[in-house]
Amino acid sequence: MESQSKLIVALTSQVGRKYLTGITGVLLVIFIIGHLLGNLQLLDSDPERFNAYAKSLHDFGLLLYIIEIALAGVILLHAFIGIAIFMRKLKARKHGYKVSGQKQGGNGKQSLASRSMIYTGIVLLIFLVVHIAQFRFGPAKETVINNEPAMDLHALVMETFSNIWWVIFYVGVMVLIGFHLRHGIWSALQSLGAMKPRWSKAIHGAALIIGLLLAIGFLVLPIIIYVRQV
Ligand code: HEM
Repeated sequence: MESQSKLIVALTSQVGRKYLTGITGVLLVIFIIGHLLGNLQLLDSDPERFNAYAKSLHDFGLLLYIIEIALAGVILLHAFIGIAIFMRKLKARKHGYKVSGQKQGGNGKQSLASRSMIYTGIVLLIFLVVHIAQFRFGPAKETVINNEPAMDLHALVMETFSNIWWVIFYVGVMVLIGFHLRHGIWSALQSLGAMKPRWSKAIHGAALIIGLLLAIGFLVLPIIIYVRQV
């Protein structure tokens, strides 16, 4: 019981919160990489390729629901702690004192990047609500894969990205995701203690490259799908 309350105190402390955003952030980056690799199959000329992939996920049944609930929990926890850290910094700034760790990274550019995290994060949260309603619970028609009924998610994505406004919306959000990931990956590695001063430059570079690759990977999808249909 005592060790449980010690754990709660540790996790809700300032350092604990930084760790939790770091760990949940790393889990989300792993999901995002997997999601991008799966989504790249949308570019295959055979629609069955993507639909068969989606069906193989849906065939997990109850386990998929459990994973989805865990994923939703990780997203909400990440967002909740991120907002709490922001509020704390805001309060500290109002009272004119520095929160330790606020200036980590050292320069004004860094604190600007970290301050924009709350805004890019909120846009991402709104995006996710729209995105999941649109594709996970969207009006996908039925198709048949290996003589079994399946969802025609490929057709739903194609139809969505035949609309230029959806393409613009997705491209805009993907640019913000790039910014969020760039700073988030750097910050997570720092919080989780991977940041030895002599690695600082390399980790900055790695965060930039991963953020860029993921943002570009995601934003070319709607563009290519749109262009192929005009
Ligand atoms: C062009 C970009 C994207 C496309 C085409 C796309 C496509 C899809 C599709 C088709 C689904 C439904 C999957 C299914 O029912 O099996 C889905 C679900 C989802 N997507 Fe995306 N996605 C994109 C970007 C993103 C990004 C950037 C994120 C996160 C930041 C994201 C997070 C999610 C989540 C959390 C789900 C629900 C997963 C689940 O319930 O299994 N997506 N996406």
